[in-house]
Amino acid sequence: MQKIIIGNWKLNPLTLSEAQALAGKIDRAPKHLAAICPPTAFLSSIDYPVLGAQDCFWQAKGPYTGQSGSPAQLKSLGVKYCIVGHSEKRALGESGEQINAKIMALLENKITPVLCIGFDTKADEDELAVIDTLAEQLAEALKNVDAAKIIVAYEPVWAISSGNPYETKHIEKAEHAEKIAIYAKTKFGIQTVLYGGSSNSANAPSFLSQPNIDGLLPGGASLLPDDFNQMINLEL
Ligand code: PGA
Repeated sequence: MQKIIIGNWKLNPLTLSEAQALAGKIDRAPKHLAAICPPTAFLSSIDYPVLGAQDCFWQAKGPYTGQSGSPAQLKSLGVKYCIVGHSEKRALGESGEQINAKIMALLENKITPVLCIGFDTKADEDELAVIDTLAEQLAEALKNVDAAKIIVAYEPVWAISSGNPYETKHIEKAEHAEKIAIYAKTKFGIQTVLYGGSSNSANAPSFLSQPNIDGLLPGGASLLPDDFNQMINLEL
């Protein structure tokens, strides 16, 4: 079954030529649907069939110095996906209201929002506590939004860039992610749920074999062409 793998490059690499070289090494006709999200500064200079942005601003244009690009501007670059609500943005103060405004502006421009949830969750808390936190993030982000039109990425904040603390237990971790995916689908009407947080080619099969996990949002692994190419071509 075809899954969706979206590479989040974050603020990497350092130069445009490195970014172009990296994009040039990613398989352009993979088995699964693959997208890459380079830094905004490089977005218009990267040639890859499916591009995503890492953030946007909710206004279309105007006196908003320093904003990362509006959905209308991203659309003019051919961008198909846009990450919103990433833990690294929430940690800098991005609010649920702002995330909701970004999602609405993206949908008006026919760009699919990839809503990250999982900020403020803890590795050692029980599943019900995790679900409480996620429910609040989903309810804020989805106010007046057609949930069927967005992608949700469950990224427990403690698993991001951690190198996978549960490496030896990733089957259990995948089962936990599967339960969260079922929750987002049944309670909120989400149709597509990804997992993110130290995903790589080694642990990808355990997540992608879960029936309700529709794909992955790798960060670090998306900067390693061999690893990313394996992920986007996995036999399941
Ligand atoms: P990671 O990042 O795969 O490096 O943990 C994922 C993300 O933050 O989207």
